[in-house]
Amino acid sequence: MINKFLKALIILSRYKILKYLIIAVEKVASRFILLNKKSLYSNFLSVFQLFSSGQIYSEFRRKKFFFYQKTKVNHPLEKTIDEIHNQSYSFLGKISENDIKTGSNFFLSQNQIYNSHVPLGTEGGEKIPLDQFLNNENCNYGSFDIQTSLSLPKISEIIKNFNMREIAEKYLLTKNLEIYSVNTMLTKKSNTTSGVCNLHRDLDSMSSITFFIYWTNVTADNGSTLIYPGSHLFNQDKLFSNYASNSLNLKHIEGEKGSIFAVDTWAWHSGNKNIETNRLVTWVRFTACPANTYFTDENYKFKDDLKKINK
Ligand SMILES: [Fe+2]
Repeated sequence: MINKFLKALIILSRYKILKYLIIAVEKVASRFILLNKKSLYSNFLSVFQLFSSGQIYSEFRRKKFFFYQKTKVNHPLEKTIDEIHNQSYSFLGKISENDIKTGSNFFLSQNQIYNSHVPLGTEGGEKIPLDQFLNNENCNYGSFDIQTSLSLPKISEIIKNFNMREIAEKYLLTKNLEIYSVNTMLTKKSNTTSGVCNLHRDLDSMSSITFFIYWTNVTADNGSTLIYPGSHLFNQDKLFSNYASNSLNLKHIEGEKGSIFAVDTWAWHSGNKNIETNRLVTWVRFTACPANTYFTDENYKFKDDLKKINK
């Protein structure tokens, strides 16, 4: 009940008049809330950011960046954390050929798939037979729900083996965090282009990080995400995509099958229209405060599955 209520409230806060009101309040509030030099998180901020138009996301990330610089200590993951702070993403390594085979066979042998980049909620689609998705020239993004992704035991092994929780803790500067989203996407060549191929930022939470598992080869000609490195620290500017869509600063996050990346998806990024062969990718997202997409994508429907992976 509370989940549905919050979902409705978040959607309502995106309506034009309310949105402008929130932007105005947020501009003033973020100055005060984030002035506190002693602590990074507060209960009030965690709730307030749920309705943010993005201003607080940028302010918080910048504050977190300075906290990190001040409190930095040597540890084995330092290079990775530095890279995420400075260029918005980091390559973590590769899983074995065997694991790649197990993962891709598992997803490609499913009977059904949602014909959208996330399964449910405001961005969700329809559940259709996988064959139909593969043969329909108008389908581009397909996705498998949280329960399906997590029923592949390899996912939790990969989360552990690549220290995803520890990286998230060190990047978000708290141990109080959880996985709020796991999504496996199948992308293919089609006659249509998804909205995620436009330059955008993921408005999930002010303190979040995403890990990607590439089950297939991902290159500039084959579906690799474009990212503007370091832009997770840029101020929120809704016109940014208008003048940066063709920027030479955009980089492809390319990787052979099996590659694992950590990405701060508050950085400006876009999907890739160029795709020759099917691309299969899983994302695992951690947050240190409530994420609005947990509600709008109806991830709460899988709260028991998420609870298990968060243990
Ligand atoms: Fe995105």
